[in-house]
This record gives sequence, structure tokens and C-alpha cells, in this order.
Amino acid sequence: MRLDRYLANQGIGTRKEVKKLIRQGQIMVNGVIQWKEDCKIDEETAVVSCNGEILHYQRYIYILMNKEPGFVCANQDSLHPTVFDCLPPAYQRCSTVGRLDKDTSGLLLITNDGVLAHRLLSPVHHVEKGYEAVLRIPIDQKQTELLQKEMDLGDFITMPAKVKVLDENRIHLYICEGKFHQVKRMLQAVGNEVIRLNRFSFGPLQLDDDLPQGEWRLLTNDEIALLKEVANR
Ligand code: URA
Repeated sequence: MRLDRYLANQGIGTRKEVKKLIRQGQIMVNGVIQWKEDCKIDEETAVVSCNGEILHYQRYIYILMNKEPGFVCANQDSLHPTVFDCLPPAYQRCSTVGRLDKDTSGLLLITNDGVLAHRLLSPVHHVEKGYEAVLRIPIDQKQTELLQKEMDLGDFITMPAKVKVLDENRIHLYICEGKFHQVKRMLQAVGNEVIRLNRFSFGPLQLDDDLPQGEWRLLTNDEIALLKEVANR
């Protein structure tokens, strides 16, 4: 693995920040200052230190992706490109935290921390996800009221959602569950139709303005701590 990626993976900073640390001579690999950001290291065995402090290889990986429509949330799919096609080989053993539909875009978490993923998805922990939905039909007061109550979708009853109307064809919807096609089905149940769906938040995390669709980054240590906090409530 490249040294700059290794450091970013450890949550030391963004790729840009860690390159600066390397250029400043603050990074040692196996006891020697390493000046090259693209130097290849064996992440399992290398002893890497930053400012004299030895880093311990992190077992868990936490990725935030801005999913592009057209990709499916599966590790492999014979028909469609998957979100894992956007990730390097080192991250292929992770799983998505819940799923977004193929045509949905936005914030997707990917991790190999199964315990955290399970907690984040469980409605017991009330981790709210925010979606922006573009609607075929102008939304009215009645539809907004229905969304904010429990709704019987046949196979399950939703918890009341929070709704913010941005304009008559665009809403923000906040839900704590993540059932199959939930947002689309909720809008369908009130007589409307979602024509575009984007997830912009997941618990305490927001989609970055400067992370283009199809791109991803590792969560910082602070973001991981925030996620663990909401998952343990
Ligand atoms: N609800 C949906 O209908 N689709 C998604 O992708 C996510 C939530």
C-alpha cells in the first residue's frame, strides 16, 4: 500500500494533509524517515511512526461513498456495476451499511465493522437518514401529514417520518428505518411518485459538497467516534 494512503487510512489526515507530513519529514517507516509519498509499505508488518508516535494498523475500515446512480450495493453482480468496483482490492471484503437502490445516489457507508453496521441499521438506535426526493406530482398538505404518521406499507408499519418541503416537487424526508424501497413506497402510498432520490445524511454524517458522485473517502477518527456514539445510544 502507498504510504500516503496508509496514513490517510489510519485517520491521520486527508491525502493532502498526510503528503505534507511526509514532505516535512515527520513520518518514519521501520526507523527511517520516509520522504516519498508513493513509497510502498507492507501495512501488516511496517512500523510507521508520525512525529515519533508509532501507529497501530487499523483493523476496521470505514468508507463514505457518494454513490452514483447505476451502481448496485452488492459485492458482486453479474449484470450491473457494483459500488465495490469503485474501490481498491484492499476494501473488497467490506459490506455496505444497508443498501441504496441502483438508481439512488448519495451517502453510502461501507465497512468491515459488522457490529457497528448492525447497530446503525437497527431501528432501536433511531439513527436518522436524510433523503432528498424529487417527486412526479406536486406534494400537498394531506400527503405531508400522512408521511409524518405511522404508515402501513403492507409488510410493515413505518415510524413517523420528518418532512421538509423544499418546493412542491422536492422534499427532504428523514427516516430511521431502512426497509426495501422504503422512501419510494412511502411516497407511492400517499399517491405520489419518487423520480429521483439522493441520500444526503446518515446519522451525524453529511455528504460532503466536494465529494463528487462515484468518489469515496475514509472516515476520520472523529467521524467514526460520532457514528459509534449514535449507534450506542
Ligand atoms: N428508500 C428507497 O426507496 N430507496 C433507496 O435507495 C433508499 C431508501
